[in-house]
Order: sequence, then structure tokens, then C-alpha cells
Amino acid sequence: MGMRWGGGGLESLTFKTRRAMNHPVNLLVVGGSGLIGWHVVRHADGAGHRVTGTYRQAALPGLVPFDGRDERGFAELLQRHRPDAVVHAAGFTWVDGCEDQPERALEENALQPGRLARECRQRGIHFTYLSTSYVFDGREGPYTEDATPNPLNVYSRSKWEGERRVQAASGDGALIARVICVYGAEARGKNFAYQVRRAFTEGATLRLPSDQEGNPSDARDLARWLVALIEQRAAGLWHLGGPRPDCTRPEWARMLAEAFERHGLRRHPQFAVEAVPTDVLRQRAPRPLRAGMLTRRLDLLGLPPGEFGDSIGALLRLDREWFPRGGASRGP
Ligand SMILES: NC(=O)c1ccc[n+]([C@@H]2O[C@H](COP(=O)([O-])OP(=O)(O)OC[C@H]3O[C@@H](n4cnc5c(N)ncnc54)[C@H](OP(=O)(O)O)[C@@H]3O)[C@@H](O)[C@H]2O)c1
Repeated sequence: MGMRWGGGGLESLTFKTRRAMNHPVNLLVVGGSGLIGWHVVRHADGAGHRVTGTYRQAALPGLVPFDGRDERGFAELLQRHRPDAVVHAAGFTWVDGCEDQPERALEENALQPGRLARECRQRGIHFTYLSTSYVFDGREGPYTEDATPNPLNVYSRSKWEGERRVQAASGDGALIARVICVYGAEARGKNFAYQVRRAFTEGATLRLPSDQEGNPSDARDLARWLVALIEQRAAGLWHLGGPRPDCTRPEWARMLAEAFERHGLRRHPQFAVEAVPTDVLRQRAPRPLRAGMLTRRLDLLGLPPGEFGDSIGALLRLDREWFPRGGASRGP
């Protein structure tokens, strides 16, 4: 089993985080080629921890292959890398696609992480599961950690099932981090910031729901918070997100467009944002409307999110540096 670390109360977290170099964690990130996983790998590495990331299809250099179906392969990974902590940043994350493939959603978002969490518990390895505030029905958001989930679609049901399976398999020792509206540099370039950038530079009208709310969240902030919590072997439910739980998509798109302009991108004259009610969009999966999260637990840690404009500068810089031509050509 790997070394133990942390052990202090959360009140000592800020101090301990600054001393991360003296308490290196050996981290395994499942889904290291994905949006959040890549930033966790990158941040942990920069903070002086030892880190291994996995990919399934996007073979970024530095990552090792792993498919969540392969239980023996996971045991071998644990044997070879001897991590102190595993982050599950993987899954079937296409919300509308899950509607057509409910078995796959259940398998990849709930059963697989449940099995991996069980393997980790048997070896004393801390486990983190990435969940979503889409577990809520969005009628009375923004939500605190003690609000009751009531998922509206296949993706959300599979994620809530994942939370429960991971907690049961880990004897309530796992960290369940709910996130929403994540943006940042990404090999596949699929998150909302990239969608807006394409429309902004190529000239397109984005039709966006005027009534869906959530906290735009920089993947670099999430990585910083996750690593700080993992350093302490934090457990239980945590809402991790940016400061605006009431931000709508059109508003977020305008914030992105302004930031792109400030960072020197040329606004195409035909770029436009059209705000329409969710009903009009006929998205395949029903969406929770007020799905924002209150982050009081996180706020107590004293690790405030970065400034929005800076986060867009970092996205553009990291994208140029790591993913030129928008391809998955380099890795952390
Ligand atoms: N992004 C958000 O706004 C958001 C919001 C709420 C919750 N979350 C949750 O946060 C987690 C990470 O999300 P993300 O947006 O970073 O995901 P993402 O960009 O779609 O990346 C998913 C990662 O998982 C890997 N993967 C997919 N299926 C796998 C499997 N069966 N076995 C092993 N690896 C597999 C992918 O590998 P390849 O790409 O190499 O195939 C990729 O590395 C997910 O659990 C998601 O539900 C994300």
C-alpha cells in the first residue's frame, strides 16, 4: 500500500496545501485525456505530486491506455503504479447520447466506477468520483450538498447511481465532487468555450437556452481544488464550481466573446447569440433548468476561483501550446 498523507482537519487545509511538495501524493487519473482529467494530471504534476493518467481512445503522449471494462487491467495498473489516490474523471459524458444508450450510460458512469472504487478500498487507496449537479431536477436551484437529487434524464440517473455505488463500495470514504459547465483547454476541443470560439471566429449564430443556469467553472480551478482535497483524503459530497450559479448560457457566451476579443481574437461580423427558451430547442435529454450549485463547503477552504478573463487567456495559451490545430497531438 502507498504512503499515508494528510490526516489533519479541513481547517488546516490551506496551510497543508502550501506544503504539498513535502507530502507528495502518488495519483492515478482515469480519463487523463479528458477535459477535467488532463487538468488534474497537469496541476498535480506541477504541484510536485507523482501522477499517471490514462486514456481510452485519445492517445496523448505520457498517458497509459486503460478501458474501464478491464478489471484485470485496473488491478495491474494499481500493482504497477502503486497510487495513494485514484481520480475517476471518465465516463459516457454526452448527455443527449446517453438517452439512446442507457445500458452504456449505467455501465460506464455507475458500474465501472463502482468496481474500481471497490478495488481501491481493498488496497486502502483513496477514490474520487466526478459527478454532476444534473442529479438535481433544477426546480429550486442553486443547490447545497444536502439537497435531494431527482434526476431528469438517463445521464443524470446514471451519475446519481454512480455516486451511490462508489460510496457503498468505498465505505463512504470516497470524495464525490459534483461539477457543472466546465471549460478549459482540451484535446478534443468540445467544451462550450470552444463552441463559442468557433462561432465567434467563423461567424455563426448560437441558439442558446435562456433559462438553463449553472456555474461556469474553469477546469484549472477544479484541478486545484480536487488535488487540495485529495491531499487531505477528503470524503463525502463536495460542490465544486465557479462563483456564478445563476449564469445562463447566453450570458456565459457573451462573457466568453468579450474575453476572446480582449485576448485579440477577431469577432466575425456574423457571430450572434440568440437566446430562446429550453422548450424551443428540443434537446433530446430533458435538462434541469436552475442546476447551479452553492459552494459554501468549498468557500471555507480559502482557495478562491481565478478571474474569468485570466482563465480564457490560459485556455487560449494552453490550447496553442498543447493542442495545435485543435488536434490531440501532445499531452501533459
Ligand atoms: N465537463 C463537464 O462540464 C462536466 C459536468 C458535470 C460532470 N462531469 C463529469 O466529470 C467527469 C469528467 O468529465 P469530462 O468533461 O472531463 O469528460 P471528457 O472530456 O468527455 O473525457 C472523458 C474521459 O474519460 C475517458 N473514458 C471514457 N470512457 C471510458 C471508459 N469506459 N474507460 C476508461 N476511460 C474512459 C476518455 O478517454 P478518451 O477520450 O481517451 O477515449 C476521456 O479521457 C465525467 O465523469 C463527467 O460525468 C463533467
